[in-house]
Amino acid sequence: MRFLITAGPTREAIDPVRYISNRSSGRMGYALAGAVRHEGHEALLISGPTSLDVPEGVDFISVTTAQQMYEAVQDMVGGVDVAILCAAVADYRPISYSNQKIKKEVERMTLELERTPDILGSMRRVFGFRGVLVGFAAETQNLLAGARNKLEAKGCDMVVANDVSQPGVGFDASTNEVWLVRKGREEKLERDTKHRIALRIVQETLSLIAG
Ligand code: PMT
Repeated sequence: MRFLITAGPTREAIDPVRYISNRSSGRMGYALAGAVRHEGHEALLISGPTSLDVPEGVDFISVTTAQQMYEAVQDMVGGVDVAILCAAVADYRPISYSNQKIKKEVERMTLELERTPDILGSMRRVFGFRGVLVGFAAETQNLLAGARNKLEAKGCDMVVANDVSQPGVGFDASTNEVWLVRKGREEKLERDTKHRIALRIVQETLSLIAG
């Protein structure tokens, strides 16, 4: 079985030295790629900038922006059986890029932003992906409602929901605590290392296929 996994943050440039991004370390996504290999399957990791080593035996594509991640997923999704989209893709990017470093000449400035492409939302509708689709939901309130909504709206088979307002959960932590949300079945995975949580997610995904 071939898995595609997205991981890490994206960076949306403002000028040659500044960008919009988020606190994703990539650990959860890289742990998923490692878990896929551990279970004896092929893994392709498409990642934004991180300081992590790519797990042994994992195919790897490095990207920076949401647009690049979108195009890499679109290009590679063809031969894939399972897609797990764990990346913290920036939802907005600056409308314009300044070729020169912006000088601090004014007291206030407004940055105009536009939406980035929705990779998860494009998987079924635009890319025609027919394999098993697992999305993530990073919420700070109404965790399960947000996850159920993504499950339905994006055509996912499972959504992994983490409450990122909790310390030790989600962004830049070595542990996580998640809900696996499927149609008619919701299960909590108690706080554990991202490696063990990743293994449970991959095993659950494989059981979806077997079932
Ligand atoms: O990287 P770590 O430090 O280990 O942290 C792990 C994590 C917190 C990043 C991870 O557990 C997680 O929650 N990943 C999803 C983060 C996120 O952006 O969630 P969201 O609720 O905003 O997005 C929902 C889903 O849509 C996600 O599957 C996301 O990859 C996807 N998405 C979002 C925006 C976009 N433009 N395209 C997308 O595909």
